[in-house]
Amino acid sequence: MCKKVCITGVYGLLGQNLVKVFSSAGYDISGIDLLSEPQPQEGLKEYFIADITDEKTIAPLLKSINPDVFINTAALTNVDLCETERAKAEALNGLAVGYMAAALPSSCRFVQISTDYVFDGVAGPYNDDSPVNPISWYGATKLMGEEAVRNCRKDGLIIRTMVLIGRIKGLKPDFIHFIKSSLESGKAIKIVTDQVGNVTLASNLAANIKCAVELGITGTMAVAGSERISRYDFALKVAERYNLDKYLISPILTADLKQPAKRPLSSGFTFNRAKEFREIKLLTVDQMMTEYDNE
Ligand SMILES: NC(=O)c1ccc[n+]([C@@H]2O[C@H](COP(=O)([O-])OP(=O)(O)OC[C@H]3O[C@@H](n4cnc5c(N)ncnc54)[C@H](OP(=O)(O)O)[C@@H]3O)[C@@H](O)[C@H]2O)c1
Repeated sequence: MCKKVCITGVYGLLGQNLVKVFSSAGYDISGIDLLSEPQPQEGLKEYFIADITDEKTIAPLLKSINPDVFINTAALTNVDLCETERAKAEALNGLAVGYMAAALPSSCRFVQISTDYVFDGVAGPYNDDSPVNPISWYGATKLMGEEAVRNCRKDGLIIRTMVLIGRIKGLKPDFIHFIKSSLESGKAIKIVTDQVGNVTLASNLAANIKCAVELGITGTMAVAGSERISRYDFALKVAERYNLDKYLISPILTADLKQPAKRPLSSGFTFNRAKEFREIKLLTVDQMMTEYDNE
């Protein structure tokens, strides 16, 4: 039987990768996003323009779609903007998750995408049950979203991930594109040495989310790339891979960037739960870069 999957943020980086992965496995995909005149997306069967923070619209819409699987990727992902647009971040990353979790019947698998920003980054990498302590409003609001799912979906699945990369046309440049295009044009860049974690290929994350749904995994589980690496070392790897001038990359500390939102520095995941499932494939940096080049 063909199952129906509903994806919010369907025109975002992860959303578009989820459409590819689920549709190529024969699922029917319904998508929700804010874009009023989007490019047609292969594999997306129906598209609804809706703001997930508008409870009066979103609750009846989800009831009418009536999906077997629901995946919420929509979020305010600009962590600095979350510090100034606090009410908007809370509405989108926290409250809206509660409306959607309450609107869908218990028969629907509810999947919420979350982040390592729920941790403080003092002593990563983190287990799936490590104590949370967000140090930014983005992290605090994403934790509200997690709690909304834990409170009202006993078989809900919360996937924590970090630093998504992927090549989707029309989206804001990812970290690899930023490094590559800067170095190709001879521009010097400063990259932080003290933010350490797992870079994640969005298409691989999407494939692992599908796997987790099909395996019936519930609760909280981190899924990302397998290797823990600093942003600076990752940038050097990008330079090396594309034969670009690594001397254009200089090290800097996060504090020197004076960004509005604090970042968890020593972050990353141990993958204690994901490692229990051989179907879930966490890729090394080299494996991700090879797949990235083929996208
Ligand atoms: N990117 C990362 O490095 C990263 C790391 C850890 C966790 N995550 C989590 O992973 C998820 C997906 O991230 P992503 O990078 O794919 O995000 P993204 O590219 O920013 O996609 C999010 C999508 O949701 C849409 N959206 C925003 N507000 C909405 C609303 N009120 N109603 C309906 N749709 C709305 C966005 O539209 P607009 O573009 O018009 O706003 C966008 O198309 C998020 O939950 C994020 O918190 C991401």
